[in-house]
Amino acid sequence: MCGIVGFIGHGNVQDVLMNGLEKLEYRGYDSAGIYLAEGGQTGHLFKEVGRIANLKETVDFDLPAVVGIGHTRWATHGMATKANAHPHQSMNQRYSLVHNGVIENYQALKTEYLKNIQLNSETDTEIVVALIEWFANNESLSTKDAFKRTLEVIEGSYALGLIDKESPEVLYAAKNKSPLLIGLGQDFNVIVSDAMATIDVTNEYLEIKDKELITLTKDAVTIEKFTGEVVQRESYIAELDASDLEKGTYPFYMLKEIDEQPTVLRRLIQSYQDEQGQAVFEADLLKAVSAADRIYIIACGTSYNAGWIGRSLLEKIAHIPTEVHLASEFAYELPLLSQQPLFIFLTQSGETADSRQALVKVNELGLPSLTITNVKGSTLSREASYTLLLHAGPEIAVASTKAYTAQITVMALLADAIRASKGIEASFNMERELSLVASVMESILAEKAAIQTWVEDSLMETRNAFYIGRTLDYYVSMEAALKLKEISYIQTESFAAGELKHGTIALIEEGTPVIALITEEIVGAHTRGNVEEVRARGANAIVISMQEVARVDDQFVIPTVTTALAPLVMVVVTQLLAYYTALGRGLDVDKPRNLAKSVTVE
Ligand code: AGP
Repeated sequence: MCGIVGFIGHGNVQDVLMNGLEKLEYRGYDSAGIYLAEGGQTGHLFKEVGRIANLKETVDFDLPAVVGIGHTRWATHGMATKANAHPHQSMNQRYSLVHNGVIENYQALKTEYLKNIQLNSETDTEIVVALIEWFANNESLSTKDAFKRTLEVIEGSYALGLIDKESPEVLYAAKNKSPLLIGLGQDFNVIVSDAMATIDVTNEYLEIKDKELITLTKDAVTIEKFTGEVVQRESYIAELDASDLEKGTYPFYMLKEIDEQPTVLRRLIQSYQDEQGQAVFEADLLKAVSAADRIYIIACGTSYNAGWIGRSLLEKIAHIPTEVHLASEFAYELPLLSQQPLFIFLTQSGETADSRQALVKVNELGLPSLTITNVKGSTLSREASYTLLLHAGPEIAVASTKAYTAQITVMALLADAIRASKGIEASFNMERELSLVASVMESILAEKAAIQTWVEDSLMETRNAFYIGRTLDYYVSMEAALKLKEISYIQTESFAAGELKHGTIALIEEGTPVIALITEEIVGAHTRGNVEEVRARGANAIVISMQEVARVDDQFVIPTVTTALAPLVMVVVTQLLAYYTALGRGLDVDKPRNLAKSVTVE
């Protein structure tokens, strides 16, 4: 949720920390701070509420720092105030700490060890740094041993960065559940939540596993298990290019990422098909999925919504019974499982704590799992039996767009490969239809101006709105509603169109926007009937469909594609709807309030 970065060695510490925090800002933007140590027991703390830009104005870039840690916050404990901003310091300010995660037993530790100590913040994190000082003083321990003692008593999720201003030649870090990587450099080393943040200084990284303590100097990195055992680990090269992270001429990353979808789709066709147009998937993976008597798709947010389209593709094309579950529920209430289940984890970031907790449960049962993610080497990829990558390029905007269509495309290609391996006849040529979908996406993206005008006429002033649809269109309406909600703050609900008249239609008033999605002809007539019902109660009925619909207040007709893949084109219209609504309201489209891109706390 939060983003942390640390740097030790030769180089401008402030530059690396501030550039890193700017790239990590999508992880939380309630407050930010850095701590710099320059030797001679001299340290400098800078903290500000809000964006990194606020902090940047206060940082002294001329200080001769040799080590530093930085943090951008998504508040879990305590309001977005300067006192609650990280880094937090021990009472004697010898120790400074940044933290991403949640310390679940912080109240109990406060009572047991720190009841006579006046704390400066409401955070769980301050308890950790106060404990390090407590153990150092009360058990006469070195900084490293005091840190180890503290790691023995804290419970929960954490990625930690620690500096002792009396020994600025060392940077300490530790990890449990929350993501943390070590970046390796010439005469310097870094700790970071996400390789993207320091890709411009190094592309060589070390993965850190749970319950590991790391000691960094400018020339060396030591990884130790909490048990004390020293671990040797191969580094890997992060497949990221700093230019991928640039917004270019786009006003917001979200619009850039919406526009990238046709290219991502074509890239996926190439990545998962050979020259003959045959799907290419790992034989073991195909065997494991084909052998499953039931597939369980587990995910959160937008990925969960993509899961429902995936379910339809796996059932209709590969003929495998499939269920979709919210990870946060599934992790603590497993359904009765079939004899040969296989679990598919959909996750753009690969770090979502709810999904990871569900995977921990699946691994405990020793059952097979496949993670479909956009981040190579992410936790959910490392800990699953199999991984399929989305090849979508970094997704920076908090509101997920290209990852949604990429997840659906990968599941469509996988379902088609399983169909072929089972000798089931195809009802359409997947590659040809996906190529057509990419072109139709481009034709819709060429209509941005029309969609922007539409939004200005119908959505700008409203406080609430409804999306309705049936079967696949209903599943797309779930994603459409989430997009509009999360970036425009309009209270938006998605409804199975047939369900509206069983209660919720009571909420329809004069002018209430109701956006109906109609691609599935088999149910189209019924949805058109539901549009009539809401219009009869004064709704402002808007239709997005593949055919003209009579007697509606406004409509957008999308070119026809095969029904099974229609969600891929329909969703683009609804993404643009949300984008232009938020833009028109003057909101920060990329960093909506109260949200973060990668949710690493449960
Ligand atoms: C979607 O726009 C949101 N950012 C959020 O719902 C997101 O989809 C969810 O947190 C899941 O993230 P993941 O795909 O990285 O696991």
